[in-house]
Amino acid sequence: MTEEPTSETLETPEAGEQPIKQRKNGLYPGVSDELAENMKSGWADTELRDLEPIEQAPYTARRRAALSARFPGERLVIPAGNLRTRSNDTEYDFRASTEYAYLTGDQTHDGVLVLEPTGAEGHTATVYLLPRSNRENGEFWLDGQGELWVGRRHSLTEAERLLGVPARDVRELADELRAATGPVRIVRGHDAGLEAALTDKVTAERDEELRVFLSEQRLVKDDFEIGQLQAAVDSTVRGFEDVVKVLDKAEATSERYIEGTFFLRARVEGNAVGYGSICASGPHATTLHWVRNDGPVRSGDLLLLDAGVETTTLYTADVTRTMPVSGRFTPLQRKIYDAVYEAQEAGIAAVRPGAKYLDFHEAAQRVLATRLVEWGLVEGPVERVLELGLQRRWTLHGTGHMLGMDVHDCAAARREAYAEGTLEPGMCLTVEPGLYFQADDLTVPEEYRGIGVRIEDDILVTEDGNRNLSAALPRTADDVEAWMARLAAERSAGS
Ligand code: GLY
Ligand code: MN
Ligand code: MN
Repeated sequence: MTEEPTSETLETPEAGEQPIKQRKNGLYPGVSDELAENMKSGWADTELRDLEPIEQAPYTARRRAALSARFPGERLVIPAGNLRTRSNDTEYDFRASTEYAYLTGDQTHDGVLVLEPTGAEGHTATVYLLPRSNRENGEFWLDGQGELWVGRRHSLTEAERLLGVPARDVRELADELRAATGPVRIVRGHDAGLEAALTDKVTAERDEELRVFLSEQRLVKDDFEIGQLQAAVDSTVRGFEDVVKVLDKAEATSERYIEGTFFLRARVEGNAVGYGSICASGPHATTLHWVRNDGPVRSGDLLLLDAGVETTTLYTADVTRTMPVSGRFTPLQRKIYDAVYEAQEAGIAAVRPGAKYLDFHEAAQRVLATRLVEWGLVEGPVERVLELGLQRRWTLHGTGHMLGMDVHDCAAARREAYAEGTLEPGMCLTVEPGLYFQADDLTVPEEYRGIGVRIEDDILVTEDGNRNLSAALPRTADDVEAWMARLAAERSAGS
């Protein structure tokens, strides 16, 4: 299906009006004056007049107030981002910038939040959006982004009601910003057009300060966010169970069956997956970000599944389970699994308010180094191994990261606020130790080669310790086996 071509021009745009992005492929005749006239009228008034504000509106207002207080007297521009063309009139899936969604609750492409200073202190917030498509000039049915093609948009009045923020036409924003005076900052990387409009007014250094603030602002989650993270995890738990129930089909096909199965759950219950699912069977489990997912799934091997549902509000889970495809661990698989489990237990125990962020990483690494020395894979003592970091040949990555709207959340935060910081209630992080023996690692006995194990849970820092948001999934080897047996029985029973 392609858009119907148009004649060369429809109407000359009024001053300030955007020309319609006409697309022509020459296959169809142009638009007659009669048809153009006909399409202007005969449409019902569909304005929605009883809209309630979105649930997170009080939270986004508080977040904007904190941002306002940090940058008094400055104009702040936070774009959602634009569609990206895949080919011709087809676009890649759009996902609004985290900063924009966090501060507005909106996810519309081309949207922009502007905080305009009201004086030495305070700002007024305005959301700039595409309004309903113009029917007079044919935009709604002839433009590739017209509502007839891509679906109804909210009117600006509707958007105001939903978001609790005044809304204006985004097509006027670039000119307004060009004409504006006074200090201004923009979150870069989302809207090249606005960045171009501001090029003489902004500096990379000042814009980076804005980005860093917005990243650090998200380190501590509010109640709405915690609820969404739990919802993301709950959907993810169901997605993992879906996968276990179809392992026989994955064995008959490939890792792709697992990816597709999890994705179905993510799309039905959420927005999408929060990152490319890692569906790593056998030696693929030793590739940290195995997202090709095109390999075989074999009984006797382990399956490492690292996947997370992203909610419709854009919060993602990030969970890993490593499970025997057959339903039963071999003794060596279990030995390695138990070491990772023990490391994860030590890591989770170190997550509490007041702890240094890195404590959980160090606790988990100590367990893994100890086991590697015991197994004779690296020469002790353990202190020497840890000091030299020799365990990292097999532990490979950090033991976790902040989690939220981005899977690796708050990534622009300063070291002193994050990696060298202190845990506080409301922070949410993954604890995800692993051991990975590459298939070509000649320093380990042959039977270890090609085994990779990671266990990853999403841990909320609470007032008195922590809460494992993903505790509904089994973690001990015995519990994983029992869980798989139960789901296999349900599959056999056809439920
Ligand atoms: N899923 C990527 C990670 O665990 O960090
Ligand atoms: Mn993960
Ligand atoms: Mn992770």
